[in-house]
Amino acid sequence: MARHLITSALPYINGVKHLGNLVGSMLPADVYARYLRSAGHDVLAICATDEHGTPAELAAAGAGMPVAEYCAAQHEVQKDLGERFGLSWDWFGRTSRPQNHHLTDHFARRLRDEGFTEIRTTEQVFSPTDGRFLPDRYVIGTCPNCGYDRARGDQCENCGKQLDPTELVDPRSAVSGATDLEVRDSAHVFLRQSALAERIRSWVDTKDDWPHLTRSIAYKWLDEGLQDRGITRDLSWGIPVDPDDFPAAAGKVWYVWFDAPIGYLGATREWADERSADDAGAEELFDSWWRTGRGAEDVTYTQFMGKDNVPFHTLSFPATILGSGEDWKLVDRLKSFNWLTYYGGKFSTTDRRGVFMGEALELLPADYWRWYLMANAPESDDTSFTWELFGDAVNKELVGTLGNFVNRTTTQVVRHFGEVVPAGGEPEGPEAELAARVDERLAQYLGFLSDLEFRKAAGALRALWAEGNVYLEQREPWKTVKVDTDRTACTLRTALVLARLFALASEPFLPDSARRLAAAFDRGLEEVPVLDGSARAACEALVRPGDPVTPPGLLFRKLAPEELDAWVERFGGVA
Ligand code: 2FM
Ligand code: ZN
Repeated sequence: MARHLITSALPYINGVKHLGNLVGSMLPADVYARYLRSAGHDVLAICATDEHGTPAELAAAGAGMPVAEYCAAQHEVQKDLGERFGLSWDWFGRTSRPQNHHLTDHFARRLRDEGFTEIRTTEQVFSPTDGRFLPDRYVIGTCPNCGYDRARGDQCENCGKQLDPTELVDPRSAVSGATDLEVRDSAHVFLRQSALAERIRSWVDTKDDWPHLTRSIAYKWLDEGLQDRGITRDLSWGIPVDPDDFPAAAGKVWYVWFDAPIGYLGATREWADERSADDAGAEELFDSWWRTGRGAEDVTYTQFMGKDNVPFHTLSFPATILGSGEDWKLVDRLKSFNWLTYYGGKFSTTDRRGVFMGEALELLPADYWRWYLMANAPESDDTSFTWELFGDAVNKELVGTLGNFVNRTTTQVVRHFGEVVPAGGEPEGPEAELAARVDERLAQYLGFLSDLEFRKAAGALRALWAEGNVYLEQREPWKTVKVDTDRTACTLRTALVLARLFALASEPFLPDSARRLAAAFDRGLEEVPVLDGSARAACEALVRPGDPVTPPGLLFRKLAPEELDAWVERFGGVA
């Protein structure tokens, strides 16, 4: 049993996430966590809402709410939606909680003591109209890199370039639209990333198993020369800089991208606090996942994120960790994703373009979305969500392949043998060949999952389901039942074993449907087969002649063309 720490990029608090956000971090993290748990490993899956910085302040202002109240409410909304999507976090925390404040202060102090911070006087955009500084997203303007005219002060959404608000051409205030902006001096804490660049490069050099997308982004930044970065802001909402530690930056807050990744640790500490009787116990538990000298030596840490987050996780956050001089765990495996587009265009939170998590669940249960999104995950390239592709994935794969097999099998069993696993007959050549094919496909599937190749894993799972239908077509129990009861019993028993195996194997992608399918075989025993190479044999041992079988009913329903047309109409579509 191995120990796996899994984190997904922390979703911004500024509103319900769209399907693109979901498939870019939280959903693949969940599929992986579920797979590892089913394979018998010890998993800690952590996520949280990312609550600081200008996105939170702007969204709260837009909602007409005090920012703390807005964040508390939105955290509950996101937590609820995540749970309804089947995201099996061990903990879903908040970067605004005291645990994260404490750890952020700790890292800032360590970095200072190790000589990796310095105070610099910087030029900041100030708006006399708004009576305040306008950091990051508070300024909008034209990107100096690509000419996009709604680039934000921290990063251009169009070309991905990280920006400083003073670099924007034709800047304006995101609060008031004021254009009479001034540049004023302000003292800030800087993280001396340049001094850590070589250590970071040496560390990245060891990560030759990272996917191409991840490595290429990291090296691009390293090759361009890692810049020192201002890690404080002239804002009121955020983690306050401790004036005793950094008197020159008193009254400011830490930059959201400084405290957000520390939030992975903060959320783990929330989890540990919740589970421990006292502070010492919580610290020990927390350390056993995060400190390599205090129990985390055997932990494999895997992160999931969209490609825009890669520089922060391969360079900035490692700079924080390495610069601390302490034995904190660094990421081992980093899975990044391209964009899911909506008919080739951007899903947009601001423009409400595309499908959002809440709306999706109003239309259909989570498993329909989980399947489509993961089977078409934007791994090697951007992929486009269309209702046509979604309809095909549901109708052909879920309904036509898995659902059809389960339904045909259980209907035949009940019709000819009642609600029990049929007894009689012995496996013959076709059963042995089926077993060999299934074992091979299962091994491929597990290999893809452990390599974090989700599209390929979904393809292998689909191929595994298809073996069930091929087998039924070959053995035709609906015909043999008229002439050979034993033969038919053996066929349907074999098919039931496959159905039990499909429940086990499909659980990472389709947790709710898998649970319903597994319940067909529930004899009130605590036997849960392990999802490894011996799973088919384990299911065979579990599904015994004479055991009760309760048909699960239809696992999925077919989507009608009119329904899909109506959704195109409602959400906007058209290529
Ligand atoms: O891009 C985003 O949605 C960020 N909120 C991700 C933060 S990841 C981590 F560092 F917290
Ligand atoms: Zn740009």
